[in-house]
Amino acid sequence: DWTMASFREDAIEKIREQVGDAKVICGLSGGVDSSVAAVLIHEAIGDQLTCVFVDHGLLRAGEAEQVVTMFREHYNLPLIHADEVDLFLDALEGVSDPEEKRKTIGRLFIDVFQKHADSIEGAAFLAQGTLYPDVIESVSFSGGPSVTIKSHHNVGGLPEKMGLKLVEPLRELFKDEVRALGRELGLPETFIGRHPFPGPGLAIRCPGAITRAKLEILRAADAVFIDQIRRHGLYDDIWQAFVAILPVRTVGVMGDGRTYDYACALRAVTSVDGMTADYYPFDHDFLGETATRIINEVPGINRVTYDITSKPPGTIEWE
Ligand code: XMP
Repeated sequence: DWTMASFREDAIEKIREQVGDAKVICGLSGGVDSSVAAVLIHEAIGDQLTCVFVDHGLLRAGEAEQVVTMFREHYNLPLIHADEVDLFLDALEGVSDPEEKRKTIGRLFIDVFQKHADSIEGAAFLAQGTLYPDVIESVSFSGGPSVTIKSHHNVGGLPEKMGLKLVEPLRELFKDEVRALGRELGLPETFIGRHPFPGPGLAIRCPGAITRAKLEILRAADAVFIDQIRRHGLYDDIWQAFVAILPVRTVGVMGDGRTYDYACALRAVTSVDGMTADYYPFDHDFLGETATRIINEVPGINRVTYDITSKPPGTIEWE
């Protein structure tokens, strides 16, 4: 694709111009955006870039290993794997307000990055995989007055406090363009095709108070749902799919016993850019089979619902 080839060249030129011989740190989330940003910046400035992957304890099953393996095996990219599970989960204890969750997570991300930036001599820039929809959703809505729908932790405010300048090479791109750029840069297709995953991670898929026990249940249920979607060959037709664990327990019956476990909601949507979305029209057999598997395979869940809200009026995430 000639457009992406020339975008790549221009972007590399701009990054070199902006950064000079300073050092850059880049937060890797494991998502497509930050991965593409990291690879692009690495191509531009090589070892001046250090990536930081923060495990905040809110990742999906196996995610930390996948990301670290991929970047260490496929790229010779300096990567710090920061295990900050206790830091984040302790701070989130008892927090149930969605904005407070986001702000807590955002603040801790800053602290962790600050710590690593301080340890890198000459670090002057922070790189982020911010996309165009992130920019507009955070700044204004429908051209109206400035209204924040949700505090995306990865937009705005961050670098001033840190004394770092921002490098955001994807700021003018939409998701499909980022994927095209990722292909252009030779990222593995399995990575490029991955569904988006929000910075605050499972925190915003666990409405109400977050506990380690609930996160375990959520991770297990989410893995079954994604496995179902892959087995049925639906993964690439869906923009994003996940499970939310609900802050309510319900009565069920299993064998000859009564159960009193959590209910969960499946969420799957189609979208072009995440700004609007339609719920995915699974057939009933798929939904029934998935519910049965989750209840049989995931201790702690005894009821499964399917979220059929589109965006608007819903958002994709539950918080
Ligand atoms: P919503 O829930 O606002 O989500 O409809 C739209 C898209 O944005 C993702 N999302 C985030 N991504 N940091 C991110 O990097 C965030 O704080 C954040 N909040 C939502 C969401 O997963 C969906 O793809």
